[in-house]
Amino acid sequence: MSLNNLCTIFFFFIITISLSLNTCYSQPPSSDCNSIFLSYNHTNGYPIPPTNPANQSYRFESTVTIFNFGPDEFKSWRIFVGFDNNQLLVSVTNAVLVDGSNLPAFVGNGTVLAGFPETDLKSAIETAGDWNQMGVEIKLVGTQFGVVAPDVPMPVTIYLA
Ligand SMILES: *[C@@H]1O[C@H](CO)[C@@H](O)[C@H](O)[C@H]1NC(C)=O
Ligand SMILES: *[C@@H]1O[C@H](CO)[C@@H](O)[C@H](O)[C@H]1NC(C)=O
Ligand SMILES: *[C@@H]1O[C@H](CO)[C@@H](O)[C@H](O)[C@H]1NC(C)=O
Repeated sequence: MSLNNLCTIFFFFIITISLSLNTCYSQPPSSDCNSIFLSYNHTNGYPIPPTNPANQSYRFESTVTIFNFGPDEFKSWRIFVGFDNNQLLVSVTNAVLVDGSNLPAFVGNGTVLAGFPETDLKSAIETAGDWNQMGVEIKLVGTQFGVVAPDVPMPVTIYLA
């Protein structure tokens, strides 16, 4: 499947902020989508030492979800996550940084992720709708600076690369 074939990219920054947990929610994947579904969900975050009112460090936890709702296998998926709060990425599941950086890695200028160890997303057609093979959930944990609660550190952009 070439990127030209991707008719639409569903992308949700649907946010409900919980005052205590600094949490927001994105909507679950919609079966109305006929191509690649992409979502970024900030799940948790809180200040971590050292206390520095001028430039406080925060832990962030987020989940990127990708689903292939298209007719063909989506080979070697890559996504750009446009971090811009001096993020240091500390752990990633089901993906690696394409630039080959080892973790922890500075990603404050954004970073491209690729699937690992599974690089492809199968189609519903070839798996009889097996969601585990059509999609992947990437859990990101890291440190960011400069976003004061109750604001939520979201990447400015996220897209298929
Ligand atoms: C987003 O994160 C919240 C908090 O962990 C969770 O309840 C919700 O189900 C998540 N949404 C998606 C689409 O993963
Ligand atoms: C906050 O600290 C981080 C990590 O040392 C640094 O990258 C960033 O530039 C600092 N931001 C400000 C506004 O000083
Ligand atoms: C991030 O971008 C800034 C401004 O363009 C640049 O000075 C810095 O070297 C970049 N950092 C990395 C790790 O690419």
